[in-house]
Amino acid sequence: MKIDLDKILSNFYEEAQGVKIPRDIDQLRIKYLGRRNGFLVRVTQEIPKLPVSKRRGIGSKVTEVRSAIERVLADKTKTESEKIRPDVDVTTPGKKTDVGSLHPLTLVIEEVKAIFHYLGFSWVDGPEVDSDLYNFQKLNMPPDHPARDVQQTYYINTDTLLRTHTSNMQVRYLETHQPPVRVLFPGRAYRRDMPDATHLPSFYQLEGLLVDATTSMTDLLGSLDYFAKKFFGEKSKIRIYGHNFPYTEPSIEVEVFHPEKGWIEILGAGMVHPNVLKNGKIDQDKFRGWAFGMGLDRLAMIKYGIHDIRVLYKNDLRFLTQF
Ligand code: DAH
Repeated sequence: MKIDLDKILSNFYEEAQGVKIPRDIDQLRIKYLGRRNGFLVRVTQEIPKLPVSKRRGIGSKVTEVRSAIERVLADKTKTESEKIRPDVDVTTPGKKTDVGSLHPLTLVIEEVKAIFHYLGFSWVDGPEVDSDLYNFQKLNMPPDHPARDVQQTYYINTDTLLRTHTSNMQVRYLETHQPPVRVLFPGRAYRRDMPDATHLPSFYQLEGLLVDATTSMTDLLGSLDYFAKKFFGEKSKIRIYGHNFPYTEPSIEVEVFHPEKGWIEILGAGMVHPNVLKNGKIDQDKFRGWAFGMGLDRLAMIKYGIHDIRVLYKNDLRFLTQF
């Protein structure tokens, strides 16, 4: 027997054309794919008789032809069975698929990033489990510093903790990057707080850090004002207070004006303290910097009129799908 698979396939196509009803489809299947005497089985039985030089490639060709035939047969069975099954109502509406939406905190993070990106900032992640060294000491807060008290800390052991703020990234970043630096550190922070409408032990912050040859407090204020106008609307205003953070000198606190709630504090900021620059191996004769840290949960609450921070973490779809 001469092996001509192409011929078998074209014969099949020709024969298959008129075939519609299930019994004929089955017969066609038996004729070509039947296990005892189908055309393809017969071909397979011939292979060992061929000279070795002619066998190459025949196996895969058989598989190819088999799948082509199977495809045609399956197609026919499908359309035929649909026609002869009165229990299938093809007019039934399809199942509705729920479409997801972004979490309000994700929206806020993305928006803040986009606003500062326009001012030349990029962003990086940082470790949530960090050392006392980067979270406190390198930020000018030695072990006995009173400023540590206001940030009740989750310690894992004496040297390791859950970061109490995203400021832990400042010196980490400066140690490995040369100015000019314009970078954001968004992420989670942790403090031992009792949960209530405005506090949770885990929350989100976003830190900004800029170090360059010529920059000043005016740039900081201008950037924050620009941010407030983009984020809260062109009519919004900011005002500043003197404050005290160990890692900035001078330090300020910034409030934004909200038409219903009045002035609300949104962030801390200041000129990066000389000790912090030194710890970050920055040449202080050439460079200076400013930094700020904002609470993202609070921004989300102000922006979307949320009154209880806890709903941001409850995964209640009735709440989440509104965004
Ligand atoms: N780390 C401060 C906090 O957790 C916020 C902050 C204040 C960050 C001043 C800064 C800064 O970078 O310069 O409340």
